[in-house]
Amino acid sequence: MKAIELTAPRLDAFRAATVPTPDPQRGEVLIRLRAASLNFVDVAVASGKYPGSSFPLIPVVDGAGEIVGIGEGVSRLALNDRVIAHAKPRWIGGRPRPCEMTEMRGVTLPGSLAEYVALPANAVVPMPANLSFETAATLPIAATTAWNAMRSADVGPGSVVVLLGTGGVSIFALQLAKASGGTVIITSSSDEKLARAKALGADHLINYRTTPDWDAKVLELTNGLGADLIVETGGSATFARSLNAAAPGGTVFVIGFVTGTEATADLLPIIIKALKVLGNNTGSVSDLRDAARAIAAARIEPVIDKVFTQDQAAEAYAHMAAGGRHFGKLAFALEW
Ligand SMILES: NC(=O)c1ccc[n+]([C@@H]2O[C@H](COP(=O)([O-])OP(=O)(O)OC[C@H]3O[C@@H](n4cnc5c(N)ncnc54)[C@H](OP(=O)(O)O)[C@@H]3O)[C@@H](O)[C@H]2O)c1
Repeated sequence: MKAIELTAPRLDAFRAATVPTPDPQRGEVLIRLRAASLNFVDVAVASGKYPGSSFPLIPVVDGAGEIVGIGEGVSRLALNDRVIAHAKPRWIGGRPRPCEMTEMRGVTLPGSLAEYVALPANAVVPMPANLSFETAATLPIAATTAWNAMRSADVGPGSVVVLLGTGGVSIFALQLAKASGGTVIITSSSDEKLARAKALGADHLINYRTTPDWDAKVLELTNGLGADLIVETGGSATFARSLNAAAPGGTVFVIGFVTGTEATADLLPIIIKALKVLGNNTGSVSDLRDAARAIAAARIEPVIDKVFTQDQAAEAYAHMAAGGRHFGKLAFALEW
């Protein structure tokens, strides 16, 4: 089959390759991949900043396609079913064992820039009927994580949710929070992106370039109370402010490191406000299934800023690595 390989942890080290087509084993399905989507983690892998990969590697975690082969013992899925390939195919549900966390498509396992992938049948999720292959391919990492964030804080009518930046996770979190009845405060470096977030339902907009103390603004907007949930995508530059912006008993959902992984913070806000500071590592197949069901039920249309072909992999990675150029997701339409 045809594939794109990443030959070294460098943002320009892509090459077109022909590799053996996988054979679906017992309990597996063969998926013809039709679309993929890019995440910050893909850039981290291609920059040598994420552990576990060996090269050459078929890159890109997220993908969607249709079933074209069925291994022995698979009864729940049929040929031509349109499915989403989960990022961590061994983590089916519940509390994960270490190998279920670390085994990840596009990182330690073949990823989505290929014609085909064979996966355990219980690691794929039916595509919501309202989605295209491109929009469905944006769900495995970003939508699952945003969904887990909503559940971590029981977001519902009256909840105040703070989102940092307008990348893939934040925009899914915006859509899910609004579908749940929450009030959304979103930050961005760009007024134009804030206007796009407003069009998607964001209630309050903060430009973190012109208002660097955005945490004080969150407190002002909430009459001094703070937010019930902060989806902490920023890392080093934002973590301490996220603690400050949280309401008593609130949740700081720690997932991202766009500004780095090291942070210094005062522990007193965590103690005095009895905060929940929760880590998250994407999620299980079961979490993706729930996220997909919510997206279908709420008729959420994933937001794709730009679609590339697989031959434009270096361009797509550079676009994301530049930071701040996109709104929502970047996707690949796979046309071999
Ligand atoms: N642990 C997990 O489960 C998990 C899952 C998914 C993602 N993540 C992580 O979460 C982070 C976001 O992922 P993503 O896919 O949404 O990334 P993304 O699409 O690349 O979005 C990153 C966004 O961060 C914003 N940003 C940059 N500097 C900022 C700052 N100082 N303050 C606030 N926002 C800032 C920018 O928004 P503007 O352009 O609007 O300024 C940018 O668009 C990444 O670190 C990723 O690895 C973790």
